[in-house]
Amino acid sequence: MKTIAEQFYQYGVVPVVVLEDAKDAVRLAKALMDGGLPCAEVTFRTEAAEDAIRLMCKEYPDMLVGAGTVLTIDQVDRAVAAGARFIVSPGFDPEIVDYCLEKDIPVFPGCITPSEVAQAAKRGIEVVKFFPAEQAGGVAMIRSLAAPYTGMKFMPTGGISAKNLRDYLECDKILCCGGSWMVKSDLIHQGEFDRIRDLTREAVELADTSNH
Ligand code: 3PG
Repeated sequence: MKTIAEQFYQYGVVPVVVLEDAKDAVRLAKALMDGGLPCAEVTFRTEAAEDAIRLMCKEYPDMLVGAGTVLTIDQVDRAVAAGARFIVSPGFDPEIVDYCLEKDIPVFPGCITPSEVAQAAKRGIEVVKFFPAEQAGGVAMIRSLAAPYTGMKFMPTGGISAKNLRDYLECDKILCCGGSWMVKSDLIHQGEFDRIRDLTREAVELADTSNH
């Protein structure tokens, strides 16, 4: 069975989902699956996250569903109880990271400085999130940051879209990219799940035809 990191690498893209209402969760999951991306990072930016994760996992047990924007231990527990198979945080919070490592929960903390990457590397973590990617220096910054930490791979998110996805994926330090461009909130609110499926398919094609 593939590790979470291996699955991220295989997909190349991890949709970052913000759901206001858990009732949209299953239709959104279907659109992602139909578009060829059986994967989602459901962010705890909304109250609906926990229920959304539970519903997606129940309906699509083979889908790789995790939790994003995890800021507290309580959210780790709630996400995992709902079925989340990985935890992503925007920054490096040692308390959350150590809690996940103790419990063998795959965790991808955000790191945009050498000091943060060092903290992750010291704990044996091999993949970190890089957020907000575009604003923090994009691919050039990732290349420089990765140089001293040869075993570390990055999962950039923030400002990535169909326009620059391939530039990121062509960097060998990048495991996969996260992004919300194919699952924008207004598309979800307006029930445009066919459009979400099409944007997802486009992202998959871009990833598949890049030098990733
Ligand atoms: C995240 O939570 O990882 C980012 O907010 C996603 O960034 P994007 O909305 O610019 O894709």
